Amino acid sequence: MTIDHEVKRRRTFAIISHPDAGKTTLTEKLLLFAGAIHIAGSVKARKASRHATSDWMEIEKQRGISVASSVMQMEYRDCVINLLDTPGHQDFSEDTYRVLTAVDAALMVIDAANGVEAQTLRLLQVCRARNTPIITFVNKMDREVREPLDLIDEIERTLGMDTIPFTWPIGMGKSFHGVYDLQHKHMRVFRPGADRSGQDEVEIIKDLNHPSVLQRFGMSLTQAQQEIELILDAAPQFDQDAFLAGHQTPVFFGSAINNFGVQEVLDTLVELAPSPSARCALQREVLPTEAKFSGVVFKIQANMNPAHRDRIAFVRICSGEFKRGINLKVVRSGKEVRTNTVVSFLSQRRELLETAYAGDIIGIPNHGTLQLADTLTAGEALQFTGLPFFAPEIFQTVEIADPLRSKQLKLGLTQLGEEGAIQVFRPHIGSILLLGAVGILQFEVVTHRLKYEYGVEARIAPAKYQLARWVTADNPRELQRFIEANAHRIAYDAVDAPTFLASFAAEISVAEENWPAIRFHKMREHA
Ligand code: G4P
Repeated sequence: MTIDHEVKRRRTFAIISHPDAGKTTLTEKLLLFAGAIHIAGSVKARKASRHATSDWMEIEKQRGISVASSVMQMEYRDCVINLLDTPGHQDFSEDTYRVLTAVDAALMVIDAANGVEAQTLRLLQVCRARNTPIITFVNKMDREVREPLDLIDEIERTLGMDTIPFTWPIGMGKSFHGVYDLQHKHMRVFRPGADRSGQDEVEIIKDLNHPSVLQRFGMSLTQAQQEIELILDAAPQFDQDAFLAGHQTPVFFGSAINNFGVQEVLDTLVELAPSPSARCALQREVLPTEAKFSGVVFKIQANMNPAHRDRIAFVRICSGEFKRGINLKVVRSGKEVRTNTVVSFLSQRRELLETAYAGDIIGIPNHGTLQLADTLTAGEALQFTGLPFFAPEIFQTVEIADPLRSKQLKLGLTQLGEEGAIQVFRPHIGSILLLGAVGILQFEVVTHRLKYEYGVEARIAPAKYQLARWVTADNPRELQRFIEANAHRIAYDAVDAPTFLASFAAEISVAEENWPAIRFHKMREHA
């Protein structure tokens, strides 16, 4: 029964937000409250040291965005929490989308001054499409921000789900006095400062109508009381099933930098967020409690140490137990993977891993054996679905100043392509590689990385194509006929899946009309 027990106590979630809403700060506070770190500042420090060790991260620094995502594991109240960071900038959405496929819940951080911002919205759409349960944290209440009713309204409208306030703010900015806990029916008083990490020191007020309380918090309290009344009238009751189905989101107000509201979020994660559930493979549904190991690669990070050309494949365990040394097979290639050096991400240190269970994320160092969307099993032929590759929206060609470096260029592009940093297409006719991306910044990252990690000075130039569709057909002969007839517009991606390239949307419509047996896909879901 160990597996059942271990799976049940796993909580795997991603933290999502628009840049600057306070994701890093809240992540750090969650680790602090769970006892995984002891001093605030280490997540920020880690952010900074990453800049120092890797030159291409300069881009990140210049733009103040977080390019690389990472995994942190912590134990709290007999639960094992796996927290996955997501890159914040929209140009890295491809990577982020894939991270979201590896989690069972999401924690959304919103800057109370800005409401739901563009990047949050895009990420939420992915969560909504997958019915991922979402917990909402409205941050920075210690600032002059928007009216909470207004924020709640916006979240409901943009998310298309019911908001269920679990706490309600009393005042804001300089007169932020705390939150009213609608579940426990008491007020927690706000005290600025980041020097606490325990709930016990928080001042609790039970009777809000006591004259001394009314006098102490004045207008802010009266206004909050009116709002709470409105909320109680209008908001539906919290319903666990509706939350798990992604129809309701519990909302908390706080100030991460002041350690306020963090404890509630952590407790809610443990109490309400789901443990790992069944996952779909092409062949069958896989239960997390099955004895045999299965997992899927959702992220690859290359050259974490450029001197060693190492790559870490991040694998979400979908079923069973991992034990160091077990033999695992890559279903796509049939190759065996050594698991003696597999690492975990316990409280930010990479450590050799002995055991892990469904829901956990493990890191497998490899030299190219593993690709995005690969399924790993103890032997069974399974292919998990749902890891998205999006049709690029921008294409560029790549030129190099020194033709003698073309081998290096090819190696670099192949590896960066396999990592998912960019999509690399090999044309059916000719040899000029085509780079495809969803956001323009991806090209900048790739040219930097080619320079610093592969020693190649590359220049990118616009390509004539703007659109791509993966093409499939039930009949392979029909697909071949389509490819031959459109040879100059066909290119193959990292796993040799054929795509049809176009400069205008109309060309795709015409091809669709002329070739009814061919299916055109905006998204590819598995290897
Ligand atoms: P991100 O990962 O979502 O990009 O955001 P991050 O945590 O880095 O926070 C962005 C800025 O917002 C930081 O300020 C951070 O200190 C501030 N912040 C986070 N939570 C709160 C909060 O509850 N209240 C207030 N007032 N500010 C908050 P910065 O000046 O950009 O960085 P730093 O100099 O503080 O490190």
